[in-house]
Amino acid sequence: MNFEHRPVLLKEAVNSLLKKGQKTHLFSSGDHELTNGIFIDGTFGRGGHSKKLLSFLDHSSKIFVFDKDPEAIDFARKMSEKDNRIKVIHSSFSNIKDELLRRNIFCVDGVLLDLGVSSPQLDDGNRGFSFLKNGPLDMRMDPTKGISVAEWLSIASVDEIREVILNYGEERFAFKIAKAIVARREKKAFTTTLDLAECISCVIPKKKNGKHPATRSFQALRIYINNELFDLSKGITSAIEMLKPGGILVTISFHSLEDRIVKNIITFDESKKSIYAGLPLLQKDLPSPKIRQILKILPDESEISKNPRARSAVLRVAQKSFN
Ligand SMILES: C[S@@+](CC[C@H](N)C(=O)[O-])C[C@H]1O[C@@H](n2cnc3c(N)ncnc32)[C@H](O)[C@@H]1O
Repeated sequence: MNFEHRPVLLKEAVNSLLKKGQKTHLFSSGDHELTNGIFIDGTFGRGGHSKKLLSFLDHSSKIFVFDKDPEAIDFARKMSEKDNRIKVIHSSFSNIKDELLRRNIFCVDGVLLDLGVSSPQLDDGNRGFSFLKNGPLDMRMDPTKGISVAEWLSIASVDEIREVILNYGEERFAFKIAKAIVARREKKAFTTTLDLAECISCVIPKKKNGKHPATRSFQALRIYINNELFDLSKGITSAIEMLKPGGILVTISFHSLEDRIVKNIITFDESKKSIYAGLPLLQKDLPSPKIRQILKILPDESEISKNPRARSAVLRVAQKSFN
């Protein structure tokens, strides 16, 4: 089946990468001037952002596109057969630096990270991401690596499950859910998404905001099984290293845990430097003085009404310093 992805904050992300400002006419003009540059799309998905960016780039430009998901990579390879400016890399964006250096690319003009899952991943029940569609309980972006959620839930302790659901789902019933999962697996192992969603629904009260009771737990398990927060902080750090002076980093995050990591790294405030002095923190945990946030954009009502997935999106634009 052909599942589609509608890119979120498309105009804003592409205009920012091209340093065009946010004026709509710059984006929609048909006969715009072409720019030259090397860009990274760290989260290709179905290539919505890459495709738009390419329409502004000249023939000698390049976009290196990354994705963990083999289906997204197949899609990217098909696109690259028609457009040799696209270079496809099946890897996590946390490896941006190594992958680029290996290809003799030493700096880039812009990096885009449109985080989380794509609509095709959620809409295809067989990927095991959705609590609304039945399918194998997998949730790996790259099903050829690591272990599935079903495998992990068959071996994890109550404490480990509680910690993941609490830390990555901010779910206050995490302990109750973890106990129920372990009690249930002792009778019968979890194999499907609906199986797990029903087990969670049975032990916690219905959410007042109409959200499915398994929403937070599924988010947590997905983040954990894909190592998403580690990838994000390593990915941003290595993207910053690869940016040229004045280069642009654009991130689109969909929940507060992601956004907090991005914000902490890119909103370094020289005047607050002293508050970190003496704390037992490693350099990597501190905001980077090499980059500054220059813009934060939220989707408007019109975008949210056309694409409800955009509801929780936060786009941040940061620029690498010139010195
Ligand atoms: C929100 S979608 C991107 C959609 C894309 N911008 C578009 O317009 O089609 C996120 C994509 O990033 C991929 N992804 C998530 N984490 C990743 C990581 N650490 N490295 C590489 N790809 C990742 C997912 O597999 C998914 O395809």
